[in-house]
Amino acid sequence: PDTLRIGLLGCGVVGGGVVETLHQNARHIEAEHGVRLDIVRAAVRDVQRERSVHVRRSWLCSDWREVCEADDVDLVIEVMGGTSPAREAIATALTHGKHVVTANKQLLAACGVELQALAATVDRRLLFEASVLGGIPAIHILHTYFGANRIRALRGIVNGTSNYILTQMADTGLSFADALAEAQRLGYAEADPSADVEGYDALYKLQILARCGLRIDLPEAAVTRVGIMGVTSADLAAAKRLGCKVKHVAEVRLAADGRVSAQVAPVVVAPSDPLYAIDGVQNALVVTGDLVGDLTFAGPGAGAWPTASAIVEDVLKVIKAVPGHS
Ligand code: NDP
Ligand code: HSE
Repeated sequence: PDTLRIGLLGCGVVGGGVVETLHQNARHIEAEHGVRLDIVRAAVRDVQRERSVHVRRSWLCSDWREVCEADDVDLVIEVMGGTSPAREAIATALTHGKHVVTANKQLLAACGVELQALAATVDRRLLFEASVLGGIPAIHILHTYFGANRIRALRGIVNGTSNYILTQMADTGLSFADALAEAQRLGYAEADPSADVEGYDALYKLQILARCGLRIDLPEAAVTRVGIMGVTSADLAAAKRLGCKVKHVAEVRLAADGRVSAQVAPVVVAPSDPLYAIDGVQNALVVTGDLVGDLTFAGPGAGAWPTASAIVEDVLKVIKAVPGHS
């Protein structure tokens, strides 16, 4: 079989998930696609740290340039997070002829247009399915399905940590702090979890979804952002007494006259709402098309495995279009 040589930037929750996924499904991928996906290099902050996954010492380095500029790397997976040095690293990888797959929503929200333009200029691919909605192929659906429909609205639960916390607080009486600690232990939360609970992560994802689904630029200032910090156990109990739930919902609407309204905020949802049944770390996206009406996509929204799944599916997408690889 052909071999695709992969360089990893980051080997934490998601990078570790990618390593394990490739280890576990290598035979299946090789048989199905005729290609070996080999990790050859991995940049991390601390090369000495013990890692529980199948990481070879020989892969590790602490300088991302050793991955992005290496002749023996065909594709870079960026899972270190943040905007710096991730932006420079992705740009360097692209200009050195590597395809890039990333899960970095913060970076894509800020510099996605610029990096996509660079990828087009150098004729490489920059794929980012894992940046929104975990394992749900939302970007793929938005890019490939809706041709006849004009998408009028995107509405969903897009932050797994917030949904996990609200569900735990409502269903088991866990405190906010304990539920957040549990979400961190399970690998759902961002390195700085204020991004989750203050609504920034949901905002970044809404910006990416708006770009892919509505073809609009949604500046941060145009989005009302409220996190879940102000939601109390009393609020959740009150919603329950009404037969409802509190959910952290991200929503963008495009009116027929072109006006855009967007917000991420906790809202009370009734049982008739498709988001009512989305509990725990699950995410969901309701896409409203002018022909089809509402379509709802749901699935695991965070954590090592669903995110690694989205990343490896993106890698395979690259392979299918790369001469000599399929
Ligand atoms: P972690 O904090 O678990 O992992 C980050 C990794 O990046 C670590 O291995 C760290 O090294 C490495 N790293 C950080 N900075 C540098 C640097 N300057 N140079 C080299 N290596 C560096 O984060 P996650 O795996 O949770 O998240 C990674 C990305 O994926 C983020 O963009 C996040 O938003 C996104 N994401 C996360 C999801 C999740 O469920 N966790 C889901 C979807 C997307 P070291 O190990 O030595 O500290
Ligand atoms: N911290 C993010 C979340 C990870 O909880 O949704 C998935 O993007």
